[in-house]
Amino acid sequence: MTDYLIEREILMALFTINHEKCKRDGICAAECPAQIIVQVDKKSFPSLLENGEEFCINCGHCVAVCPHGALTLSTMPIAACPPIPKSLLPDADALRQLLQARRSIRQYKKTPVSHKLLAELIDTARFAPTGSNKQQVYWSVFQKPADVHRLAALVIDFMKLMLPITTDEAMVRRFQRLVDAWDNGRDRIMREAPHLIVVHSPSDLSFPAADCAIALTYLMLYAYAKGLGTCWAGYFTAAANLHEPLIKALDLPAGHQCFGAVMLGYPKYGYHRIPKRNEPQVRWH
Ligand SMILES: Cc1cc2nc3c(=O)[nH]c(=O)nc-3n(C[C@H](O)[C@H](O)[C@H](O)COP(=O)(O)O)c2cc1C
Repeated sequence: MTDYLIEREILMALFTINHEKCKRDGICAAECPAQIIVQVDKKSFPSLLENGEEFCINCGHCVAVCPHGALTLSTMPIAACPPIPKSLLPDADALRQLLQARRSIRQYKKTPVSHKLLAELIDTARFAPTGSNKQQVYWSVFQKPADVHRLAALVIDFMKLMLPITTDEAMVRRFQRLVDAWDNGRDRIMREAPHLIVVHSPSDLSFPAADCAIALTYLMLYAYAKGLGTCWAGYFTAAANLHEPLIKALDLPAGHQCFGAVMLGYPKYGYHRIPKRNEPQVRWH
């Protein structure tokens, strides 16, 4: 860093403000979710609250919201924060149509999804919100259809163990149909999907279930936009943390819990209409 640069920038452990670019508009201070950026008045530059580092959640909002590119976080150089081309954003009608048209897919082609595309889905899902921006969403991707089938078989084993001790009769009837289908060569657990994407997270976080579900939802929506089909693997998820052989097969890091999974592949059939859904049940206050 040259003397010249030191002169025109306030150097702080956490962030740097370029005084030539900063217009002292106060936007970064107003938007900081932890309120650790302070700007005393319109004449002064924003600065870091004393000991503010402790409360920074590294969300990068200060860098992203500044219209002048004046702020750099030590953990997040401005070059790592690309601009948003407005022309690439879908309009509300397009987004609403996408949200309404996505369906759970239960018939898949055998065509494998490329590793590159699977990685792109996950790379997109990492922009999902997480509690306190913890970003502790982890992925286990089963790329081989035989492995997905093996996991389905373990879920069926679990159901067979549960059937004699389940008191809920409706559940017994449901499980029995799934087991019978499996015994007759039909996989209603993974729907013979070629791939399975599992999300897991340390279970001692504040909102691991929400973090994982939102990330998977991002992934499902982007997968749909890329011409792929997905379906939430509920039976698998329910068994994933309970059935010892399945826990072993998943081999998650210590302290992690599985909070969801989706089957994924190219859909055999397209949907042409949006099915009716219940009216929202809302109490307006
Ligand atoms: C938490 C959750 C668990 C689910 N588990 C399964 C499942 O194990 N198998 C399945 O075929 N569909 C499963 N689904 C898909 C739902 O049945 C589906 O979302 C619902 O019927 C509505 O259809 P749509 O997704 O096409 O709108 C699950 C969905 C959610 C949200």
